[in-house]
Amino acid sequence: MAKEIVTIKNLTKTYKTHERKAGLMNAIKSLFNRKVVLKHALKDVSFTIKEGEVVGLIGPNGAGKSTTIKALSGVLHPTSGVVRVLGYVPWKHRVKYVKHIGVVFGQKQQLWWDLPAIDTFDLNRDMYEVPEKIFRPRLKRIMKMLDIEEVAKTPVRDMSLGERMKCKLAAALLHKPKLVFLDEPSIGLDVIAKDIMRDFIIDANKKDKTSFIVTTHDMQDIEHLCERVIIINHGVVVWDGPLKEIKKKYLKNKIIDVKCESPIGKFRHKGCKIVSNDKYELRIEVDTMKTKIKEVVSHIMKNYEFADLVINDPPIEEVIQKIYREKKK
Ligand SMILES: Nc1ncnc2c1ncn2[C@@H]1O[C@H](COP(=O)(O)OP(=O)(O)OP(=O)(O)O)[C@@H](O)[C@H]1O
Ligand SMILES: [Mg+2]
Repeated sequence: MAKEIVTIKNLTKTYKTHERKAGLMNAIKSLFNRKVVLKHALKDVSFTIKEGEVVGLIGPNGAGKSTTIKALSGVLHPTSGVVRVLGYVPWKHRVKYVKHIGVVFGQKQQLWWDLPAIDTFDLNRDMYEVPEKIFRPRLKRIMKMLDIEEVAKTPVRDMSLGERMKCKLAAALLHKPKLVFLDEPSIGLDVIAKDIMRDFIIDANKKDKTSFIVTTHDMQDIEHLCERVIIINHGVVVWDGPLKEIKKKYLKNKIIDVKCESPIGKFRHKGCKIVSNDKYELRIEVDTMKTKIKEVVSHIMKNYEFADLVINDPPIEEVIQKIYREKKK
C-alpha cells in the first residue's frame, strides 16, 4: 500500500476584506468607516493523497483551487482544519518543509526577473543544499527535456510566457521534491509546449515517484496526466474519484462524426440528437441507453454515401459541467 503523504481534513479559509465603493470620496470615507466583508473561499475541503499519485484538482473560477494549493504549500494560514503534508504542517514548518516540495503558480512571477533562469536554478541548488554532483547532471537532463538549454541563459524578463513557464517548472523540480503543486501550469503554453510539459511531469512521476497535485482548466491536461480527479465548487469537494469512473457514469452518450460525399439532407434516428449538420458533415449525439451505436452506424451505412465515420466520447468539459449542475440542485 502506498504511503499517505497528504491529509487535509475539514479545511476552511475565510478571507477578510474591506468593502470599498468606487470614487475618491468613498475611498476617504472608507478610511474611517471600514466595513468588513467575509469571503468563505473554502467551506469544507477534505481529501488525502498517496505517494506516487497525480491528482487533478478542478473546478470553476473562484471555486477555491488556488486557496487549497496555497494552504498546501504553506504560504497561507487557513482559518480552521487540518493539513499535514509529508509529516509537516506546511505553514508552521515552512523552512524544513519547502525542501521536499515544489510549487508552480502559473499566474505568478517565481523566478528572479532580471537574472537568467539558470542563475535562479543555481540559487535554488544552494537554498535546497543539493550536492553539486547530483545537481549538474539533473539540471542538464531537465533542461534538455524541457528544451530550455539556450533560453535559460537569457534574463527572465526577456522570455516569452511559455519559456518562462517551462523554466518555472524546471526550478520547481530540480531539487527532486517528493511532491509538487502545479497551479495552472499550462497557462500560456502552445500545443507543443503543453506536450513537453505533460511528458516531463509523467517522466518525473515514473522515474522519481514524484507526486503531483495539478489545477487546470485544460481538460486535456487531466486526460493526459491524472488517473484521479477531485472536483471542488464553492469551497466544497463535490467529487473525488477515478477519472475512469466519471467517464463510466457520465459518458453514456457517444458522438458520431460523419463525412459524406453527397449532401446529407435530413437525418433522423431513435436516441439521436443532431449537434451540427453542415451539408457534407454531420455530428450526432447518441444516447446509448436508448439505442445501440451499432444500429445508428448501420443506419448511416445503408442510407448515406459516407466517406468517413468517427465515434468519440463527448468532451470531458461537458461531463464536468453536468456534475457541477447536479451538485448544485
Ligand atoms: N486574498 C484574497 N482576499 C479575498 N478574497 C480572496 C483572496 N484570494 C481569493 N479570494 C476569493 O476566494 C475565492 C476562491 O479563490 P481561488 O483563487 O482559490 O479560486 P480558484 O478556484 O483558484 O479560481 P480560478 O480558477 O479563477 O483560479 C474567490 O471567490 C476569490 O475571489
Ligand atoms: Mg486559481
